[in-house]
Amino acid sequence: MDRDHRHPGRGRGGARLGHDPRLGGTRRAHRRVARRGRASRGDLSSLRDRASRVGLADGARDVEGGPGRRRRKCGLGRHPRGRQKNFAASASHELRTPTTSILGFVEEVLENDALSEEDRGFLQIVYRNAQRLSQLIDDLLILGEAEIGASMMHLEPTALVPLVERVTTIFSAAAQRAGITLGADHDPDPPLALVDPLRFEQALTNLVSNALKFTPDGGDVKVAIRGGDETVDVSVADTGMGIHPTDVDSIFGRFYRTRIAVDTAIKGSGLGLAIAKRMIEAQSGTIRVTSRMGHGSTFTVTLPVAKREPDVV
Ligand SMILES: Nc1ncnc2c1ncn2[C@@H]1O[C@H](COP(=O)(O)OP(=O)(O)OP(=O)(O)O)[C@@H](O)[C@H]1O
Ligand SMILES: [Mg+2]
Repeated sequence: MDRDHRHPGRGRGGARLGHDPRLGGTRRAHRRVARRGRASRGDLSSLRDRASRVGLADGARDVEGGPGRRRRKCGLGRHPRGRQKNFAASASHELRTPTTSILGFVEEVLENDALSEEDRGFLQIVYRNAQRLSQLIDDLLILGEAEIGASMMHLEPTALVPLVERVTTIFSAAAQRAGITLGADHDPDPPLALVDPLRFEQALTNLVSNALKFTPDGGDVKVAIRGGDETVDVSVADTGMGIHPTDVDSIFGRFYRTRIAVDTAIKGSGLGLAIAKRMIEAQSGTIRVTSRMGHGSTFTVTLPVAKREPDVV
């Protein structure tokens, strides 16, 4: 099976410009360019205009507006965290716009039946690499956000059972295809955790994605919630290939992949765990792993419990 589980149903290439219904005539502009083999000024301005209408070019506008003007307007930039956040938002738009455009144009050209087999093969390589680049940009931007830390988090008392269910549902079809049993095992009424639900969901998604990716077909993946007085644990256990003791400390570093993952050609960039760890630590949580080679791994996240406000009488 395809072991790329990070964004099931969406693919790792991010938004596909040519398939976005909001972009209407964009495909026509792509087609014109594909036919002529080059883009006229009119095509480019039409594409830019449409991109800006769906928010793809906001970053360009921000940059054109200049840092001074924006700083005065919204107060960002005085504080180093504000500057960093602002930079990440602009960089995100600036980097995504060209990659989305490359993907859109290549898709259009690939639809041309007159392409020779050799050219089609080359273009498919361009397309796969542009998709990979797009995924990398997304991951690095998320990582940048996680590194900004606690100031980016919107902590709130969060029920973990529905959150875990949302994540396992996303992966259920992929698990089924691989004959992997993806199950849950929760305490009956676990306490609410004090987390940023979206960011925690992202971290958990990366853990479940890994568990499925590194578990051979027919294995088991189980997500469990165990509540305590002060903390609540969420663990993801698999019956997969396991992690060698010498790798355990390194796997949370950026771009680190174990030899066995590389040798068995399982896809990945080595960023998922780095993102998960930083996201979780920015929410005052911790993450640890226990593993046995050939038997499986368990990643456990410990989160603070949301204290109840004392009742006002
Ligand atoms: N459940 C697991 N079982 C075995 N090895 C794992 C597991 N989770 C992570 N690893 C090892 O840790 C490495 C780092 O994981 P990480 O999620 O950061 O990267 P990736 O999955 O390879 O790529 P990405 O998540 O960026 O697509 C993996 O490449 C793999 O070697
Ligand atoms: Mg991963």
